[in-house]
Amino acid sequence: MKVLIVGSGGREHALAWKIAQSKTITEVIVAPGNAGTAQEAKVHNIPIDPLAIEDLLGLAKREDIYLTIIGPEAPLAAGIVDRFHAAGLRCFGPTQAAAQLESSKAFSKDFMQRHNIPTAAYQTFTELNAALDYVADQSFPLVIKADGLAAGKGVIIAQNIAQANQAIINIMRDDAFGQAGQQIIIEEFLTGEEVSFIVMSDGEYILPLVSSQDHKARDNGDQGPNTGGMGAYSPAPIMTPELHQQVLTDIMIPTIHAMRDEGHPYTGFLYAGLMISATGQPYVLEYNCRFGDPEAQPMMLRLMTDLVSLCDAALNHQLDKIQAEWTEQTALGVVLACEGYPGDYPTGEPIKGLSEHNNIPFGKVFHAGTTLAKDQVVTQGGRVLCVTALGETVEQAHQNAYQALQTITWPSIYFRTDIGHRAIAREQTDSQ
Ligand code: AMP
Ligand code: GLY
Repeated sequence: MKVLIVGSGGREHALAWKIAQSKTITEVIVAPGNAGTAQEAKVHNIPIDPLAIEDLLGLAKREDIYLTIIGPEAPLAAGIVDRFHAAGLRCFGPTQAAAQLESSKAFSKDFMQRHNIPTAAYQTFTELNAALDYVADQSFPLVIKADGLAAGKGVIIAQNIAQANQAIINIMRDDAFGQAGQQIIIEEFLTGEEVSFIVMSDGEYILPLVSSQDHKARDNGDQGPNTGGMGAYSPAPIMTPELHQQVLTDIMIPTIHAMRDEGHPYTGFLYAGLMISATGQPYVLEYNCRFGDPEAQPMMLRLMTDLVSLCDAALNHQLDKIQAEWTEQTALGVVLACEGYPGDYPTGEPIKGLSEHNNIPFGKVFHAGTTLAKDQVVTQGGRVLCVTALGETVEQAHQNAYQALQTITWPSIYFRTDIGHRAIAREQTDSQ
């Protein structure tokens, strides 16, 4: 049986690597994939864009694909799952209507308000002047968000009125995010610690996956511009069993039940980006209708259960009948990026020192923005690799990952040296 994975990032390499371990799977096709998926046993790439839905459907039919898994949000928001289901094909992910939880922040905020799911207070605006009038007498910081998908760039934290006005004008008048900015959300700034809560859902039941935390800021000490994520680890020590249960009861279960009741049953990975307040209360910052990247890399390293059997259970509406097994160890991934990311960065730089890392002790080098130029792996994106390792503690996983990445280099390599710092500090306090 063959599996098709749509996407080209580190998340898709991690999913493909895990799926390829399934005994029932003979072949994994990744569209379009990267140099890592090109070199993985049982896996190969086919160069089709994730938004070329008809071409992907043609491929799935021609190759007699048993199961398709969608990595990124854009094809989900464009309705790829609806199209595959209409053609009678098995595709794991939410429908276009269900993916609105991510593709429209106005939809998700109104949804949370309707169902008493804890989130920051907010207002929605479609008129430039109304938005400018509103911020005139607000206190700061204030968070300004474009409604639609903006590749992770549509959230601005305004520290004062000048920044707020600038952001509103950029989005609403100057169309910085195109269509995505026709509507904006202005919301209360929440403080606390962010954590990723990712589950699988079959429309009715939830299978919670293990906790994880990523580092969104580009630089050490969680400073600098927001990125897609510079590193992640699992489990996140902040997610105590009590908090885990509270998030399920107050957020994830009501979300899945309300989506079902509103006529958009949600099947797929559902990722809630949470802020845990100083008093330990969870608030939803955003929903993502897909797996996290780079959270997938450490989480897939810990998953012991066959991922195909989990997707099968979800597509058969039987998630209540299956458990997922995980190693007790911590996994930690460090993203190796290019200098300049999340802005402009060079591409095409040869990566040295990779071959001896194909099988690092206790871990795995997952590729993201890489491609093959003849037989040489070269950089192609802002986030290039995610070096991921296991350890008995977060600190040990951190040491193993940093040791493993030592010999990997290219001219514009850039990475944080403190991935896991909050969890390591928490471990040290707990052990005293
Ligand atoms: P989002 O795409 O909505 O998750 O926003 C991206 C990032 O902006 C989040 O990961 C947070 O770091 C930050 N953020 C979003 N909303 C808020 C908020 N209401 N308060 C504080 N930070 C926020
Ligand atoms: N790591 C953040 C995300 O996947 O959106």
